[in-house]
Amino acid sequence: MILEALNYLASLPVTASLHRGFVRGSVNLWSRARRCASAWAEHERHCHEAVRAAVSGGRQRRTVVVLGSGLVRDVPVEELSRQFDTVVLVDLVHLASVRLWIRAKGLKNVRLIERDISGFADIAAQKEPEPLAFLRQVPYLDLVISANVLSQIGIGAGRKAEAAGLSQEIVPRLISAHLDGLRGLPADVCLLTDIAFKVVDRTGKVHQDADLLHGIAPPAEAARWSWPVIPTGEASRDYQVVHTVIASRLNCVPKPAEMATAEHGDSA
Ligand SMILES: C[S@@+](CC[C@H](N)C(=O)[O-])C[C@H]1O[C@@H](n2cnc3c(N)ncnc32)[C@H](O)[C@@H]1O
Repeated sequence: MILEALNYLASLPVTASLHRGFVRGSVNLWSRARRCASAWAEHERHCHEAVRAAVSGGRQRRTVVVLGSGLVRDVPVEELSRQFDTVVLVDLVHLASVRLWIRAKGLKNVRLIERDISGFADIAAQKEPEPLAFLRQVPYLDLVISANVLSQIGIGAGRKAEAAGLSQEIVPRLISAHLDGLRGLPADVCLLTDIAFKVVDRTGKVHQDADLLHGIAPPAEAARWSWPVIPTGEASRDYQVVHTVIASRLNCVPKPAEMATAEHGDSA
């Protein structure tokens, strides 16, 4: 509790007033991630593998952007910092603990952008949502990693829509806008996202399940795995909440060596 309180208090002054309301949720996530570290380890390993595959398949390594960087657990930021000229982390909130970790590791080429990437503001202003248009201003953009933020965009937008008396139809619209935004980028994209959740008891019986993408079809996946977001014992002795997560690569143009291999394979 003391560490949480310190992280909360230290994060408030370094967070824009518009986003201070999200600090508590981010500290709660930090706290849960520490408690559930062993249950989440496999999920984080899968995420790191997917990112490494995207980096090794990429053409250049100038700027990489991580959307929903959060606690920087899903993404091997130290490796990215060594491999790329510039690493840009984008989230509603960058906790004091994350800022301290970046400084302690001496990651001098890591930049932080505090930003709502949902596109909700566009919809509220009755405009077509273009939540990732700001990435067009990022010079030498070679790789964008959407790091388990897509379902959270949906959840946040659903809450805001309810509070503003707007239709829940905006939720799938914003999920689509994120995917379309990624597809429209002049860069390789590694999408990590949970697509569904289920509540499971100790016998493996499923008591509840839901589509986290609200009917929007995800892109073809390169990998799929389960993430026990709330393992048994965290919130209940008898039930756990398990998310299905996928990794996808978008916009990737094969490197010359890969094209030669593919052509050779085609003619064989
Ligand atoms: C499940 S966490 C992802 C964890 C993170 N990738 C990591 O490695 O620790 C979701 C993250 O998305 C961020 N997020 C949720 N909605 C967002 C929005 N509309 N704009 C920007 N970030 C958002 C949250 O603040 C949180 O850090």
